[in-house]
Amino acid sequence: KLEKWEGAYADVLSPICVEKGQASHPEPLCMGRTPLMDHEASLKALSAAKEAYAQGSGVWPTLSVSERIEHVERFLHEMQVHRDEVVELLMWEIGKTETDSCKEFDRTCDYISNTIEELKALDRRSSRFELVGGVIAQTRRLPVGVALCMGPYNYPLNETFTTLIPALIMGNTVIFKPAKYGVLLVGPLLEAFQNCFPPGVINIIFGNGRDTIPPLMESGDIDMFAFIGTHQGAAALKQMHPKPNRLKAALGLDAKNPGIVLADADLDLAAQECVAGALSFNGQRCTALKLLHVHESVAEAFAGKVVDEVNKLMPGMPWEPTTKLTPLPEPGKTDYLTALVEDAQAKGARVVNDGGAQVYGTYFHPAVLYPATSDMRACSEEQFGPVIPISVFRNENEVIEQVRESNFGQQLSLFGQNADTMGPLIDVLANQVGRININGQCQRGPDTLPFNGRKDSAEGTLSVSDALRVFSIRTTVATKST
Ligand code: G3H
Repeated sequence: KLEKWEGAYADVLSPICVEKGQASHPEPLCMGRTPLMDHEASLKALSAAKEAYAQGSGVWPTLSVSERIEHVERFLHEMQVHRDEVVELLMWEIGKTETDSCKEFDRTCDYISNTIEELKALDRRSSRFELVGGVIAQTRRLPVGVALCMGPYNYPLNETFTTLIPALIMGNTVIFKPAKYGVLLVGPLLEAFQNCFPPGVINIIFGNGRDTIPPLMESGDIDMFAFIGTHQGAAALKQMHPKPNRLKAALGLDAKNPGIVLADADLDLAAQECVAGALSFNGQRCTALKLLHVHESVAEAFAGKVVDEVNKLMPGMPWEPTTKLTPLPEPGKTDYLTALVEDAQAKGARVVNDGGAQVYGTYFHPAVLYPATSDMRACSEEQFGPVIPISVFRNENEVIEQVRESNFGQQLSLFGQNADTMGPLIDVLANQVGRININGQCQRGPDTLPFNGRKDSAEGTLSVSDALRVFSIRTTVATKST
């Protein structure tokens, strides 16, 4: 369906080689093509979005909540027909396992249904009139305007839709820029978008962000932007807007989530959760555990158990049921991860698992780095890949200090069994991050919980209910009571 574009195209390459029957490819395998839109196409999308919004009096923002819900329900229904195609594309284009690709699709459908239910409840509450302080007040939740939603490659369907759907259902018109990898799955959904939303309500721009995004931002006509990526990227985009203070934002940014293993932790459980947290989708999750701190009294034992857990994970093709580790879609990623490992080795860490850090084409075998120290790049940079640095601490204050000094504050995991020790620690750490996970890995879900962060990790909160608030503004109509 993307082939209708009349301008330039870019090849979409898969990180997987099937001919050789191995998880690497000597020659990139071309899966298809994506339109390369330019400045002009981008501005066309913007004028369509502006026209459909028309300062809040356009066709979409003036529909009733229940009418907009009907459109989104229809879209959900049509989207579900394409489950197999989308799952297949996720496997081939970003190397996500079939199990995780199915989960991504199903979780997105649940997110849409839950959003609809939540909006019905919110609307019931907002439509009430209240007599307060001499006025009869009704507070309405109105759209923000034209929203630009940009998705990440690791959840090209799910995380993008957690902004796109609330933006649409609240009455905003949307410009949607799919992720750089994981772009082809938009193809099977194009018809559903076209069938279910009036013209101009959702406008999709394909191509290089460097060509398509600046004209939108510089126009000053984007009212809200949702972006999942680096904090530097978000700051640069904001600065392109002539009135950055007027730009409402929902940002999911960098993270370096630590796992803290106390002396009395259940080490088997901690190792299982930490490895699952660090290596699910090869560590390509903003919520992945990216640095493990372990108490010196159990450090050797814990590192050994981490290695045992890593050894249980099978590399392979995404569609094989036993596969847990797969090739990486980002070009140059294996070189970057190799550089992190070499830097750590030069500063005294060892790769303690067999085969760790070996590269086969686009596949990088996970590397457990022990003992890691704070001067190593692997301890400060967001690796977003299968590298697990384990550092050793003598007392909890050292870790508290590191968490406080970090530029990031998305989540952390704390492993231990003594409530008397953990309680005060939780209190101290709680104001550094958006979520603390006790004896469990970091994660975004369940999607009804707030998903946010502190410092350079986020702006705004996303969850089913928070997103509806983020993509709207409350306006009160107050009538003087007589
Ligand atoms: O990459 C960031 C995602 O928000 C992570 O979501 O914890 O459900 O994998 P997840």
